[in-house]
Amino acid sequence: MDNYFAVKNLRVNFRTFEGIKKVLDLEALNIYKGETFGLVGESGSGKSVFALTILGLLPIPPGVIESGEIIFQGENLLKKKEEEMIKIRGKKISMIFQDPMSTLNPVFTVGDQIIRVICNNEKISRKQAEKKALNMIELVKLPDAKNILKKYPHELSGGQRQRIIIAIALSCGAEFLIADEPTRNLDVTIQAGILKLIDELKKELKVTVLFIANNLGLVSAICNRVGIFYRGRIVEMGTVREVIKNPRHPYTLTLLKAIPKNKEEKIDVSRILVKSEKLQGSSGCPYFERCLKRDETCCNGIPDLKNIEGTHCVACYKVN
Ligand SMILES: Nc1ncnc2c1ncn2[C@@H]1O[C@H](COP(=O)(O)OP(=O)(O)OP(=O)(O)O)[C@@H](O)[C@H]1O
Ligand SMILES: [Mg+2]
Repeated sequence: MDNYFAVKNLRVNFRTFEGIKKVLDLEALNIYKGETFGLVGESGSGKSVFALTILGLLPIPPGVIESGEIIFQGENLLKKKEEEMIKIRGKKISMIFQDPMSTLNPVFTVGDQIIRVICNNEKISRKQAEKKALNMIELVKLPDAKNILKKYPHELSGGQRQRIIIAIALSCGAEFLIADEPTRNLDVTIQAGILKLIDELKKELKVTVLFIANNLGLVSAICNRVGIFYRGRIVEMGTVREVIKNPRHPYTLTLLKAIPKNKEEKIDVSRILVKSEKLQGSSGCPYFERCLKRDETCCNGIPDLKNIEGTHCVACYKVN
Protein backbone atom coordinates (compact mmCIF):
# COMPACT_ATOMS: atom_id res chain seq x y z
CA MET A 1 0.00 0.00 0.00
CA ASP A 2 1.23 3.47 -0.92
CA ASN A 3 2.31 5.17 2.30
CA TYR A 4 2.98 8.58 0.76
CA PHE A 5 0.61 10.53 2.99
CA ALA A 6 -1.38 8.86 5.76
CA VAL A 7 -3.36 10.15 8.71
CA LYS A 8 -4.02 7.84 11.63
CA ASN A 9 -6.33 8.49 14.60
CA LEU A 10 -5.89 12.24 14.43
CA ARG A 11 -7.86 14.04 17.13
CA VAL A 12 -7.72 17.82 17.39
CA ASN A 13 -9.66 19.93 19.90
CA PHE A 14 -9.96 23.58 20.71
CA ARG A 15 -10.04 24.85 24.27
CA THR A 16 -12.65 27.58 24.32
CA PHE A 17 -14.41 29.53 27.06
CA GLU A 18 -17.39 27.22 26.63
CA GLY A 19 -15.21 24.15 27.14
CA ILE A 20 -13.44 21.65 24.92
CA LYS A 21 -14.62 21.66 21.33
CA LYS A 22 -13.82 18.54 19.31
CA VAL A 23 -12.88 19.60 15.80
CA LEU A 24 -11.12 16.66 14.11
CA ASP A 25 -11.49 12.93 14.55
CA LEU A 26 -9.88 11.24 11.57
CA GLU A 27 -9.36 7.54 11.99
CA ALA A 28 -7.60 6.78 8.72
CA LEU A 29 -6.97 8.69 5.53
CA ASN A 30 -4.46 7.91 2.79
CA ILE A 31 -3.55 10.14 -0.11
CA TYR A 32 -1.64 8.38 -2.86
CA LYS A 33 1.31 9.90 -4.68
CA GLY A 34 0.24 11.75 -7.81
CA GLU A 35 -3.49 11.82 -7.12
CA THR A 36 -5.84 14.71 -6.41
CA PHE A 37 -7.84 13.93 -3.30
CA GLY A 38 -10.89 16.09 -2.67
CA LEU A 39 -12.06 16.83 0.85
CA VAL A 40 -15.58 18.24 0.83
CA GLY A 41 -17.54 19.55 3.77
CA GLU A 42 -19.63 22.47 4.90
CA SER A 43 -18.35 25.59 6.64
CA GLY A 44 -16.97 24.88 10.12
CA SER A 45 -16.45 21.15 9.52
CA GLY A 46 -12.72 21.42 10.22
CA LYS A 47 -11.20 21.45 6.73
CA SER A 48 -8.85 24.40 7.32
CA VAL A 49 -7.94 23.13 10.79
CA PHE A 50 -6.88 19.86 9.12
CA ALA A 51 -4.78 21.72 6.53
CA LEU A 52 -3.11 23.86 9.20
CA THR A 53 -2.40 20.78 11.36
CA ILE A 54 -0.62 19.07 8.44
CA LEU A 55 1.66 22.08 8.00
CA GLY A 56 2.29 22.52 11.74
CA LEU A 57 0.48 25.89 11.66
CA LEU A 58 -2.38 25.10 14.03
CA PRO A 59 -2.46 27.78 16.75
CA ILE A 60 -1.60 25.92 19.99
CA PRO A 61 -3.28 27.02 22.28
CA PRO A 62 -6.25 27.21 21.77
CA GLY A 63 -5.71 24.15 19.54
CA VAL A 64 -4.70 20.84 21.11
CA ILE A 65 -3.51 17.79 19.16
CA GLU A 66 -4.88 15.06 21.42
CA SER A 67 -3.51 12.12 19.48
CA GLY A 68 -2.60 10.79 16.09
CA GLU A 69 -0.01 10.66 13.37
CA ILE A 70 0.37 12.45 10.05
CA ILE A 71 2.81 10.38 8.04
CA PHE A 72 4.43 12.04 5.04
CA GLN A 73 7.03 10.02 3.11
CA GLY A 74 7.39 7.66 6.05
CA GLU A 75 7.87 10.33 8.73
CA ASN A 76 5.41 11.60 11.33
CA LEU A 77 5.00 15.36 10.79
CA LEU A 78 3.47 15.76 14.26
CA LYS A 79 6.80 14.69 15.82
CA LYS A 80 8.83 17.27 13.93
CA LYS A 81 10.36 20.35 15.55
CA GLU A 82 9.57 23.80 14.15
CA GLU A 83 13.07 24.04 12.53
CA GLU A 84 12.33 20.82 10.66
CA MET A 85 8.85 21.98 9.63
CA ILE A 86 10.33 25.18 8.19
CA LYS A 87 12.32 23.00 5.79
CA ILE A 88 9.20 21.06 4.81
CA ARG A 89 6.86 24.03 4.32
CA GLY A 90 7.11 25.40 0.81
CA LYS A 91 9.83 22.98 -0.27
CA LYS A 92 7.94 19.73 0.23
CA ILE A 93 4.39 20.66 1.21
CA SER A 94 2.81 23.91 0.20
CA MET A 95 -0.58 25.48 0.69
CA ILE A 96 -2.88 27.80 -1.19
CA PHE A 97 -4.86 29.59 1.49
CA GLN A 98 -8.57 30.29 1.33
CA ASP A 99 -8.29 34.06 1.01
CA PRO A 100 -5.70 35.40 -1.49
CA MET A 101 -5.66 38.89 0.06
CA SER A 102 -4.60 37.52 3.44
CA THR A 103 -1.65 35.77 1.77
CA LEU A 104 -0.48 38.71 -0.33
CA ASN A 105 0.97 41.79 1.32
CA PRO A 106 -0.71 44.92 -0.12
CA VAL A 107 2.37 47.14 0.27
CA PHE A 108 4.78 45.07 -1.85
CA THR A 109 4.65 44.32 -5.56
CA VAL A 110 3.82 40.81 -6.67
CA GLY A 111 7.38 40.44 -7.98
CA ASP A 112 8.92 41.42 -4.62
CA GLN A 113 6.75 38.87 -2.85
CA ILE A 114 7.56 35.94 -5.14
CA ILE A 115 11.27 36.81 -5.17
CA ARG A 116 11.35 37.03 -1.37
CA VAL A 117 9.82 33.56 -1.02
CA ILE A 118 12.30 32.12 -3.54
CA CYS A 119 15.32 33.79 -1.84
CA ASN A 120 14.20 32.63 1.61
CA ASN A 121 14.14 29.05 0.44
CA GLU A 122 17.04 28.85 -1.97
CA LYS A 123 20.56 30.22 -1.93
CA ILE A 124 20.43 32.02 -5.28
CA SER A 125 21.19 35.57 -6.43
CA ARG A 126 18.47 38.21 -6.80
CA LYS A 127 18.92 38.06 -10.61
CA GLN A 128 18.37 34.30 -10.67
CA ALA A 129 15.36 34.66 -8.35
CA GLU A 130 13.89 37.31 -10.68
CA LYS A 131 14.25 34.93 -13.61
CA LYS A 132 12.60 32.16 -11.65
CA ALA A 133 9.74 34.48 -10.60
CA LEU A 134 9.18 35.31 -14.26
CA ASN A 135 9.07 31.60 -15.12
CA MET A 136 6.56 30.99 -12.33
CA ILE A 137 4.24 33.73 -13.61
CA GLU A 138 4.41 32.16 -17.06
CA LEU A 139 3.77 28.74 -15.56
CA VAL A 140 0.46 29.94 -14.06
CA LYS A 141 -0.44 31.30 -17.49
CA LEU A 142 -0.60 35.00 -16.71
CA PRO A 143 0.14 37.02 -19.86
CA ASP A 144 2.74 39.81 -19.87
CA ALA A 145 4.66 38.31 -16.95
CA LYS A 146 7.24 41.17 -16.73
CA ASN A 147 4.49 43.71 -16.25
CA ILE A 148 2.60 41.56 -13.70
CA LEU A 149 5.71 41.40 -11.50
CA LYS A 150 5.61 45.20 -11.11
CA LYS A 151 1.96 45.28 -10.00
CA TYR A 152 0.59 45.57 -6.47
CA PRO A 153 -2.01 42.97 -5.41
CA HIS A 154 -4.89 45.49 -5.54
CA GLU A 155 -4.09 46.17 -9.21
CA LEU A 156 -4.96 42.57 -10.12
CA SER A 157 -8.29 40.79 -10.43
CA GLY A 158 -9.32 38.03 -7.98
CA GLY A 159 -8.50 35.33 -10.51
CA GLN A 160 -5.09 36.86 -11.30
CA ARG A 161 -4.30 37.11 -7.57
CA GLN A 162 -5.18 33.46 -7.07
CA ARG A 163 -2.82 32.55 -9.93
CA ILE A 164 -0.06 34.52 -8.18
CA ILE A 165 -0.76 32.61 -4.95
CA ILE A 166 -0.46 29.34 -6.86
CA ALA A 167 2.84 30.55 -8.37
CA ILE A 168 4.15 31.41 -4.89
CA ALA A 169 2.98 28.07 -3.47
CA LEU A 170 4.82 26.14 -6.17
CA SER A 171 7.89 28.38 -6.44
CA CYS A 172 10.00 26.31 -4.06
CA GLY A 173 9.37 22.95 -5.67
CA ALA A 174 6.74 21.51 -3.31
CA GLU A 175 5.51 18.09 -4.37
CA PHE A 176 2.42 18.04 -2.13
CA LEU A 177 -0.01 20.90 -2.54
CA ILE A 178 -2.89 21.67 -0.20
CA ALA A 179 -5.43 23.88 -1.97
CA ASP A 180 -7.85 25.18 0.67
CA GLU A 181 -10.95 26.31 -1.24
CA PRO A 182 -8.82 28.13 -3.83
CA THR A 183 -11.83 29.34 -5.81
CA ARG A 184 -14.10 30.34 -2.94
CA ASN A 185 -14.61 34.01 -3.77
CA LEU A 186 -14.38 33.79 -7.53
CA ASP A 187 -17.19 33.75 -10.05
CA VAL A 188 -17.96 30.56 -11.94
CA THR A 189 -16.01 31.14 -15.17
CA ILE A 190 -12.90 32.27 -13.26
CA GLN A 191 -13.29 29.25 -10.94
CA ALA A 192 -13.21 26.93 -13.94
CA GLY A 193 -9.96 28.53 -15.18
CA ILE A 194 -8.26 28.10 -11.78
CA LEU A 195 -9.39 24.45 -11.52
CA LYS A 196 -8.05 23.76 -15.00
CA LEU A 197 -4.76 25.40 -14.05
CA ILE A 198 -4.38 23.31 -10.88
CA ASP A 199 -5.14 20.17 -12.87
CA GLU A 200 -2.59 21.05 -15.57
CA LEU A 201 0.11 21.98 -13.05
CA LYS A 202 -0.48 18.77 -11.14
CA LYS A 203 0.27 16.79 -14.29
CA GLU A 204 3.13 19.01 -15.46
CA LEU A 205 4.95 19.22 -12.11
CA LYS A 206 3.81 15.79 -10.87
CA VAL A 207 2.45 17.15 -7.59
CA THR A 208 0.01 15.39 -5.32
CA VAL A 209 -2.96 17.58 -4.39
CA LEU A 210 -5.26 17.73 -1.38
CA PHE A 211 -8.11 19.82 -2.75
CA ILE A 212 -10.44 21.25 -0.13
CA ALA A 213 -13.90 22.46 -1.14
CA ASN A 214 -17.40 22.96 0.17
CA ASN A 215 -18.93 21.90 -3.11
CA LEU A 216 -18.96 18.43 -4.64
CA GLY A 217 -19.26 19.85 -8.14
CA LEU A 218 -15.81 21.41 -7.98
CA VAL A 219 -14.22 18.24 -6.67
CA SER A 220 -15.71 15.98 -9.30
CA ALA A 221 -14.07 18.05 -12.03
CA ILE A 222 -10.46 17.47 -11.01
CA CYS A 223 -10.23 14.83 -8.25
CA ASN A 224 -9.48 11.13 -8.41
CA ARG A 225 -10.91 10.30 -5.00
CA VAL A 226 -13.07 12.19 -2.57
CA GLY A 227 -13.74 12.22 1.18
CA ILE A 228 -16.97 13.72 2.52
CA PHE A 229 -16.27 15.53 5.75
CA TYR A 230 -18.84 16.14 8.46
CA ARG A 231 -17.94 17.59 11.87
CA GLY A 232 -14.29 16.61 11.56
CA ARG A 233 -14.94 13.03 10.41
CA ILE A 234 -14.98 11.35 7.04
CA VAL A 235 -18.47 9.95 6.54
CA GLU A 236 -18.05 8.71 2.97
CA MET A 237 -15.00 8.08 0.83
CA GLY A 238 -14.18 6.53 -2.52
CA THR A 239 -13.38 7.33 -6.10
CA VAL A 240 -15.26 10.30 -7.51
CA ARG A 241 -17.29 7.84 -9.58
CA GLU A 242 -18.19 5.73 -6.53
CA VAL A 243 -19.24 8.66 -4.36
CA ILE A 244 -20.95 10.85 -6.94
CA LYS A 245 -22.62 8.17 -9.07
CA ASN A 246 -23.69 6.13 -6.05
CA PRO A 247 -23.78 8.40 -2.97
CA ARG A 248 -24.82 6.42 0.11
CA HIS A 249 -24.42 8.61 3.18
CA PRO A 250 -27.47 10.82 3.83
CA TYR A 251 -25.17 13.83 4.17
CA THR A 252 -23.61 13.22 0.74
CA LEU A 253 -27.11 12.99 -0.68
CA THR A 254 -27.87 16.37 0.86
CA LEU A 255 -24.69 17.79 -0.62
CA LEU A 256 -25.82 16.55 -3.99
CA LYS A 257 -29.25 18.07 -3.33
CA ALA A 258 -30.97 14.71 -3.73
CA ILE A 259 -34.74 14.93 -3.37
CA PRO A 260 -36.80 11.98 -2.04
CA LYS A 261 -38.35 10.26 -5.04
CA ASN A 262 -41.34 8.56 -3.42
CA LYS A 263 -43.72 9.08 -0.54
CA GLU A 264 -42.17 6.36 1.67
CA GLU A 265 -38.99 8.40 1.93
CA LYS A 266 -40.83 11.31 3.53
CA ILE A 267 -39.98 11.63 7.19
CA ASP A 268 -42.37 11.66 10.11
CA VAL A 269 -41.34 14.78 12.03
CA SER A 270 -43.22 13.85 15.23
CA ARG A 271 -41.31 10.54 15.49
CA ILE A 272 -38.04 12.27 14.92
CA LEU A 273 -38.58 14.89 17.62
CA VAL A 274 -39.15 12.11 20.18
CA LYS A 275 -35.97 10.39 19.08
CA SER A 276 -34.05 13.61 19.13
CA GLU A 277 -34.98 14.07 22.80
CA LYS A 278 -34.03 10.46 23.47
CA LEU A 279 -30.61 11.09 22.04
CA GLN A 280 -29.82 13.97 24.35
CA GLY A 281 -26.85 13.06 26.53
CA SER A 282 -26.12 9.87 24.61
CA SER A 283 -23.50 9.40 21.95
CA GLY A 284 -24.91 8.59 18.56
CA CYS A 285 -24.19 9.34 14.94
CA PRO A 286 -23.02 12.98 14.68
CA TYR A 287 -25.34 13.48 11.70
CA PHE A 288 -28.41 12.23 13.65
CA GLU A 289 -30.14 15.56 14.12
CA ARG A 290 -30.12 16.40 10.42
CA CYS A 291 -30.56 12.92 9.02
CA LEU A 292 -33.61 12.00 6.98
CA LYS A 293 -33.01 8.26 7.44
CA ARG A 294 -32.37 8.05 11.16
CA ASP A 295 -33.95 5.60 13.59
CA GLU A 296 -33.11 4.05 16.99
CA THR A 297 -30.11 2.13 15.64
CA CYS A 298 -28.40 5.45 14.98
CA CYS A 299 -28.11 6.09 18.74
CA ASN A 300 -25.66 3.21 19.23
CA GLY A 301 -22.45 5.24 19.21
CA ILE A 302 -20.60 6.80 16.30
CA PRO A 303 -20.68 4.58 13.18
CA ASP A 304 -17.34 3.39 11.76
CA LEU A 305 -16.30 4.04 8.18
CA LYS A 306 -17.00 0.66 6.57
CA ASN A 307 -16.12 -0.62 3.14
CA ILE A 308 -19.24 -1.36 1.11
CA GLU A 309 -17.89 -2.06 -2.38
CA GLY A 310 -14.62 -1.55 -4.24
CA THR A 311 -12.91 1.33 -2.45
CA HIS A 312 -16.23 2.91 -1.43
CA CYS A 313 -16.55 3.41 2.36
CA VAL A 314 -19.49 4.84 4.32
CA ALA A 315 -20.03 5.60 8.00
CA CYS A 316 -23.77 5.08 8.43
CA TYR A 317 -25.84 2.46 10.31
CA LYS A 318 -28.46 2.57 7.59
CA VAL A 319 -26.05 1.57 4.82
CA ASN A 320 -25.06 -2.09 4.46
N1 LIG B 1 -8.53 29.53 16.78
C1 LIG B 1 -9.69 28.90 17.02
N2 LIG B 1 -10.24 28.87 18.25
C2 LIG B 1 -11.38 28.19 18.50
N3 LIG B 1 -12.07 27.52 17.57
C3 LIG B 1 -11.58 27.51 16.32
C4 LIG B 1 -10.36 28.19 15.97
N4 LIG B 1 -10.12 27.99 14.64
C5 LIG B 1 -11.14 27.23 14.20
N5 LIG B 1 -12.00 26.94 15.18
C6 LIG B 1 -13.23 26.14 15.09
O1 LIG B 1 -12.93 24.91 14.46
C7 LIG B 1 -14.01 24.52 13.63
C8 LIG B 1 -13.48 24.20 12.25
O2 LIG B 1 -13.05 25.40 11.63
P1 LIG B 1 -12.42 25.42 10.17
O3 LIG B 1 -11.91 26.80 9.93
O4 LIG B 1 -11.45 24.31 10.03
O5 LIG B 1 -13.70 25.13 9.25
P2 LIG B 1 -13.75 24.97 7.67
O6 LIG B 1 -14.30 23.61 7.39
O7 LIG B 1 -12.44 25.32 7.07
O8 LIG B 1 -14.86 26.04 7.27
P3 LIG B 1 -14.92 27.05 6.01
O9 LIG B 1 -15.48 26.24 4.86
O10 LIG B 1 -15.85 28.12 6.44
O11 LIG B 1 -13.55 27.55 5.72
C9 LIG B 1 -15.02 25.65 13.65
O12 LIG B 1 -16.06 25.30 14.51
C10 LIG B 1 -14.25 26.82 14.17
O13 LIG B 1 -15.08 27.67 14.90
MG1 LIG C 1 -11.75 26.77 5.83
